[in-house]
Amino acid sequence: MDLIVNSGKALKGEILIPGDKSISHRSVMCAALAEGDSVIHGFLKGEDCIATLDAFTEMGVSIYQQENKIVVHGVGLQGLKKPNSDIYLGNSGTSMRLMSGLLCGQSFSSILKGDASLSSRPMERIVTPLIDMGANISSSKGGCPPLEINPSKKLEAFSYELPIASAQVKSCLMFAGLYAQGPVVIKEKTQTRDHTELMFKKFGVHVSIKESEGLKEILVSPPKSMEATNINIPGDFSSAAFFILGALITPGSDLKLINIGINKTRIALLEVLKEMGANIKLSNVNNDYEPSADITIRASELKGITLNPDLVPNLIDEMPVLFIAAALAEGTTRIRGAEELRFKESDRLDSMARTLNLFGVKHKLLDDGIDIEGTNQYKVDFPFDAAEIDSFGDHRIAMAATVGAIRAKGSCKIKNCINIATSFPGFVDLGNQLGMSLKEA
Ligand code: S3P
Repeated sequence: MDLIVNSGKALKGEILIPGDKSISHRSVMCAALAEGDSVIHGFLKGEDCIATLDAFTEMGVSIYQQENKIVVHGVGLQGLKKPNSDIYLGNSGTSMRLMSGLLCGQSFSSILKGDASLSSRPMERIVTPLIDMGANISSSKGGCPPLEINPSKKLEAFSYELPIASAQVKSCLMFAGLYAQGPVVIKEKTQTRDHTELMFKKFGVHVSIKESEGLKEILVSPPKSMEATNINIPGDFSSAAFFILGALITPGSDLKLINIGINKTRIALLEVLKEMGANIKLSNVNNDYEPSADITIRASELKGITLNPDLVPNLIDEMPVLFIAAALAEGTTRIRGAEELRFKESDRLDSMARTLNLFGVKHKLLDDGIDIEGTNQYKVDFPFDAAEIDSFGDHRIAMAATVGAIRAKGSCKIKNCINIATSFPGFVDLGNQLGMSLKEA
């Protein structure tokens, strides 16, 4: 599917955004391992989370999908069954990395596979510490999927300092920790998203967190059982980010996004955009186990900034959005410490640099970042060149390019966008409802 994007109107209205992807994955994983029924409201029915859901169905967990909720009949920590075939996880790195942890604790073998993009993503980052813990897991050529997992004698109590800021690695080890002989301690220098910590607590798992010598230590005590619970999942901030950008860069916009997750480990983009001059306000804050709020955005003139590299892990999925904001700002934006972008669904530093090229935006690409020369949007009606841009097999590049195309001199074509469905089903309809001009071709 290709998208034809024209300049459209100002973005106006009040809308809900589909549920948070990270929380949706974790909710099904925990609910499946709990004792009893869990009801999950706002589960994201995007392809990535459906891949997780299907994997648990294949392992004997009954899951009923209704309009806006799913009901999971948990089978308990020891209740999963050997799947009949290899587990296919599509594009979803989160499913593969988190599920590997819990599958290492099972008494059956499993093989985890993915699509072409997932099959080229690095898995050594989980395989190495899992083996150190006692797991029997191996990756394929180049440390990539498929992963083969066999039962291990035992998973030991374990302490590990994360060499890269990755919530997926941390969460993988936490899920393995559910099956360990003793406590598992994971130490992180830079805090990454803490959805697993919050979700484990909600399901009755003892997780203690302390700070020591600049490191955050997360201790998981292996539970006897997990307790079923009900979960409300707020809108995904990472999906909301595309419409936050759209409203900021389209003159006259005034948009309210309702009930969006504002977990502080996820929303560094707001801090950064405000520093750039964005008019963004939070209201109706709800301090549930995962906090949420309404976000109001008005079109704003933006200035370039030097990004604090410590913030990168807390806006890692919003970097493509930040690149477009920087390209429209006045002055240069400097981004460093972002090498992890090279290991996402595509090499996002490279894909975004190519996207900026096609839009005619000057920039200098580095190994771990980029300098982007802003086009000073408010001085020029349509600062970007009209272009044909590929999604590079990456849903977030597809959506960032689509929103950027609003400010192009003519019609743009964003090619191979079917992957948007992995994280944001309904993106095109919602965009059109708000005032964007998007046509599927
Ligand atoms: C995720 C963590 C991040 C993020 C991904 C989802 C998660 O990956 O990019 O989209 O749900 O834990 P890393 O942990 O590899 O940075």
